[in-house]
Amino acid sequence: MRITIFKRAFAVFIFLSSGFVFAQSKSDRELILIDKDWRFSFGHLYDTDKDFGHATGYFSYLTKTGFGDGPAAKDFDDRAWRKLDLPHDWAVEQPFSESGSFSHGFKTAGKGFPEKSIGWYRKKINIPETDKSKIISLKFDGVFRNSKVFFNGYYLGTEESGYNGFEYDVTAYVNYNGENAIVVRADASMEEGWFYEGAGIYRHVYLQKTNPVHVATNGTYVTSEIKDNNTEIKAEVTIENKGNYKGSVEIIQTIFDASNKKIATSSENVAVPEFYKTANFTSNLKVKNPVLWDIDAPNLYRLETQLKQNGKIIDSYETSFGIRTIKFDAEKGFFLNGKPLKLKGTNNHQDHAGIGTALPDELQYYRIQKLKEMGSNAYRCSHHPPTPELLYACDKLGMLVIDETRLMGINDYHLNDLERMMKRDRNHPSIFCWSVGNEEWNIEGNIVGERITTTMQDFAKSIDPTRPVTVGISSGFKSGISSVVEIMGYNYLGNGDIDAHRNEFKQQPGMGTEEGSTFTTRGIYFTDDAKHYKSAYDQKPRPTFYSIEEGWKFYTERPYLAGMFIWTGFDYRGEPTPYGWPSVTSYFGMMDVCGFPKDNVFYLKSWWGNQPVLHIMPHWNWSGMEGKEIDVWVQSNCDEVELFLNKKSLGKKKMELNSHLEWKVKYTPGNLEAIGYKNGKKVLTETQKTTGKAENIKLTVDKENVAKGNVSVITVEVTDNNGLHVPTANDEIAFSIKGGKILGVGNGDPTSLENDQFIDALSLVNITDLKEQKGTIATLPQQLSNYAENDWKTAFKDRDYKNQAPSYIYKGEFELKDSPNANIISFFYKKIGVETAVFINGNKVEPSVEDAQKYILNSVILKQGKNTIHIAATPLQKVKDWDVMNTDPGIIQIITSAKPWKRQLFNGYAQIIIQKDENAKEVVLSASAKGVKTGTIVVK
Ligand code: GAL
Repeated sequence: MRITIFKRAFAVFIFLSSGFVFAQSKSDRELILIDKDWRFSFGHLYDTDKDFGHATGYFSYLTKTGFGDGPAAKDFDDRAWRKLDLPHDWAVEQPFSESGSFSHGFKTAGKGFPEKSIGWYRKKINIPETDKSKIISLKFDGVFRNSKVFFNGYYLGTEESGYNGFEYDVTAYVNYNGENAIVVRADASMEEGWFYEGAGIYRHVYLQKTNPVHVATNGTYVTSEIKDNNTEIKAEVTIENKGNYKGSVEIIQTIFDASNKKIATSSENVAVPEFYKTANFTSNLKVKNPVLWDIDAPNLYRLETQLKQNGKIIDSYETSFGIRTIKFDAEKGFFLNGKPLKLKGTNNHQDHAGIGTALPDELQYYRIQKLKEMGSNAYRCSHHPPTPELLYACDKLGMLVIDETRLMGINDYHLNDLERMMKRDRNHPSIFCWSVGNEEWNIEGNIVGERITTTMQDFAKSIDPTRPVTVGISSGFKSGISSVVEIMGYNYLGNGDIDAHRNEFKQQPGMGTEEGSTFTTRGIYFTDDAKHYKSAYDQKPRPTFYSIEEGWKFYTERPYLAGMFIWTGFDYRGEPTPYGWPSVTSYFGMMDVCGFPKDNVFYLKSWWGNQPVLHIMPHWNWSGMEGKEIDVWVQSNCDEVELFLNKKSLGKKKMELNSHLEWKVKYTPGNLEAIGYKNGKKVLTETQKTTGKAENIKLTVDKENVAKGNVSVITVEVTDNNGLHVPTANDEIAFSIKGGKILGVGNGDPTSLENDQFIDALSLVNITDLKEQKGTIATLPQQLSNYAENDWKTAFKDRDYKNQAPSYIYKGEFELKDSPNANIISFFYKKIGVETAVFINGNKVEPSVEDAQKYILNSVILKQGKNTIHIAATPLQKVKDWDVMNTDPGIIQIITSAKPWKRQLFNGYAQIIIQKDENAKEVVLSASAKGVKTGTIVVK
């Protein structure tokens, strides 16, 4: 596969960073990441004028092919639109409001905001003449949502799903050796989930080129069977023929190990399928003494599938895969590679602090690594197909995955989504189970649920018989879905009697697809309902729900249960249960939205992980509470722990399995120290010290967690004069950056309504009431004269193009809502004449150096409110009678510069995500705040 590697091409990059080096065999296939240099503008849900008049043409794009109008037209002038790179989430850029959606975290975008629910994206690409014999297609990893895509004005299709990848063949519409316009209209006015979903092109986009005879999209399927020390690999390939070649090709399938050593190969001559048909072929290969994929040693192999036609390699397609076995046993739980493995899982949504759903690939690694550090070995993609990069991160770091489709049903909408997810994902060794639904309350307990599940399950088996199917079920574990689903997915102990269900369905394996749902706020130790803060002690959240400890004890004590998935690993935007506005993120996470641990993480580390753990909660800064009793909990896997306050022992306690220890301690400032013993020996010491006030800002980069790339996660904190982290600090920190840019800021405070991003605001203002007067000579005025008021006529009305005046003077208006002083205001002229002179409020203005049809307007000549524009021009002439002449003089663009980046610390911490410029050697981030020393960090 010939790959053009861009910085964001992580699916590609991952092979490289895992030790694979591409064979770089020359073939016709190219996969080019096209995330850079898009233009963006909001449209409007129902006001067509604000949607650039799209779909109003006499002939629409549905009546005549190629009739995409408004921004969908090839030559639409998008110069005044905002420039941006993908991935992009326009929802996260917006402020919060109580009128926003509860489930989506109260952002003022999407549902309920017609002016922030349609996003238009445009990008221009060049395709050389030499690609003429190839199939050219556009590949989208995911757009939220209901996207329509156009190419050079041709309508390609609509993709409703905000989560599935899709692809369009554009070969027939290409303008070779010239400009081609890709246009996407995303409509986020409807929600697919009850959690934050973002808005826009929030995953990667690629341009793909292949030979007409090629491996189909997601056209390989690698399965393995281990027999003694040998593994039989079946490598199925789907070949598609989009041309007229009739003959044979040689399929060469080669397996490379992690050190890129060729270890098996096979070849076969096959007849290519007929025009526009596909055909499947299977190669059998053997891998001796396979190195298995496991959570602690996630070994990956690579299959290279080549197609050779008349001695020339025409396609080369890469598939990363792993060799491993999985088994669910109704008595003994889950087995990976023949060994029992309790699933220590978390559920997660796909958004992160500061950046919403537009995660750079590096952040996928950061998040999976954080979960691994907590001792977790499994991840449930709740409740939709994830971005492909998440699965690569799980493959590479060793995290098992339940891959879940969005909606249950048996029609094309549902089954096609399921099929696309499975075909895209079925080579990932991390995936051990398909989930075809979650908490479908309407059907869970009835015959419809039973029928739908049976159909979806059988359908899933027809695509991948190697993995079982589950559904997360919440309302009673007796009838309906639960009676037919292969692996019972229990959502919460409190929702039914798991033991009773198991006694009735002894052959059915089960796992806790959701458990916990506890409410905690990082760094908070006293619940304050007025402030919407929940204390971080692991408590029963609601009468019928259970604490993390109660949940884990239940699952770990029952071997027949494969394990449990906590709701959730990370806090996420939306669902701020048990509160509402002004809380904007959930409270369920073991970590906050940034990935900063809440204290529950240390409970899990103790019993899920394999390292000695000793952690004391809370912190020891309780000025004003002297003499008052404080609950002190210790999370640890030591046999015994002794607690000391200022060297005085508060007693030694025995730790019970899967438990924690508690003391009541009267507060005195100083040192609260814990000593952990194993087999009677001191193994760990941990201290919470009362700190002084904040003196310095400390910045640290999360180096080891971030895979090689340009994006870094920086922790911001303040320390006292002894360098101790101040756990109560809430300072507001201002940031400045050189050599890169800031992508987002967060702090894990569920009630923070601060900006996630500080970006320039761009608005567009139309020129209205355009009038004209005829000129008598072709020479344009250098100054405006007095034009008789009565002579102004509506511009271009009844224009006789065969009999035009030598020149015209046009007059229009535009409104500036705010004072022009603080803004950069430009006029983007669209040609309504050959020679042109432009006057703003009577002053002649000159075009800019970079664009002869752009006028950057000096604020001195502008005013708040109504402004006038005069354009003197010699007329455009029609060449053919049917030529459609432009009558739109252009648009006014107003850019309001962003305020400097800042964020308050929340209980001692904030997070900032930065991206190094591609050509910069290093990026320098500085952080300053009132009354503390500035901090600086250099990231190379
Ligand atoms: C579950 C649901 C999750 C989430 C959670 C919040 O019922 O499956 O998606 O909404 O409740 O408690």
